[in-house]
Amino acid sequence: MNTHELANRLREEHEAVELLANRVREWVAVIPRSNVANWIVELRNRFEKFRAHLIRHMALEESDGYLTTVVELRPTLSGEIERLQHEHVELNKIMTGVHLAVEAIGPEDRLLVRDCCRRMESLLNYVTHHENDENLLLITALTTDIGSHD
Ligand SMILES: [Fe+2]
Ligand SMILES: [Fe+2]
Repeated sequence: MNTHELANRLREEHEAVELLANRVREWVAVIPRSNVANWIVELRNRFEKFRAHLIRHMALEESDGYLTTVVELRPTLSGEIERLQHEHVELNKIMTGVHLAVEAIGPEDRLLVRDCCRRMESLLNYVTHHENDENLLLITALTTDIGSHD
C-alpha cells in the first residue's frame, strides 16, 4: 500500500469512527426521565458498536504499517508516533472501564447513569483529538514524501 492509499484508507476509517462516536454523543446528550431501562439498552448498543470498532481500528493502525510507514518517511516524527501508540493503550483502558460501568448500571441509578454519560463524552473527546493528531501526522509525512519526489 503506498502512502496515498494509506491516507485514503485512514480517512475512511476515521470517518467511520466519527460516525459511531456521534451516535453515542447524540444518545448521551439527553438522559430521559422515564423509560430509562430501554434507553440504557440502546446506550449499551451504541457504545459497544463504537468500542468494537475502535479496538479494531487501533489494532489495524498498529499492524498494517501505517505507524511504521510514517516513521520511515519522517524519522523525526517517531516521538509523536510513540505518544499516539501509548494513547491507544490508555484509550483501551478507559474504554474497558466505561464498558464495565455501563454494564453495571440500572434504571434506578440516576447518578451512575449521569456519570457513565460524562465518561463517554470525555472518552469521545479524547478519541476525536487523537484521530485529528493522526490525520495531521499523516499530512506532515505525506507532504515530506511529495516534496522528496519533486
Ligand atoms: Fe490511533
Ligand atoms: Fe485512528
